[in-house]
Amino acid sequence: MSQFVWDEKYDVGIKHFNNQHKQLLDALRDVYKAMENKEDKAAIATVLNNLIKYAKEHLTQEETCLKENKYPDFENHKKLHEVFISKIIQFYEDLKNDKFTIHFEIAIFIKNWITNHIMIIDKQYTEFLHSKGIY
Ligand SMILES: [Fe+2]
Repeated sequence: MSQFVWDEKYDVGIKHFNNQHKQLLDALRDVYKAMENKEDKAAIATVLNNLIKYAKEHLTQEETCLKENKYPDFENHKKLHEVFISKIIQFYEDLKNDKFTIHFEIAIFIKNWITNHIMIIDKQYTEFLHSKGIY
């Protein structure tokens, strides 16, 4: 379960976003736990839906901040968020429609996306936002 816990390697240098990334991983851990405990479809759908809601909220806040500060890579960054959101919504729809059964793969995919995005893409805005006085 430690793989769903925030670690210093995910530090993007912006306190608010670090806190949100921690909460995002918490929400994902709930999904993983529900799957591990072999909870029923409705229970897994609920925690997955919570994760989607939280991811949307966080990614929108990140986008607003990047846009307001005229981050040069804003459009590309936003697109990556959109692809991710549509993918997890698809997982949710598939779950509701009994189209998938391999739950753990879903949790691992989401975990890999979030952690890679934080470590590779989000970290690219650190220096830029710091130069705008945002920490
Ligand atoms: Fe991001």
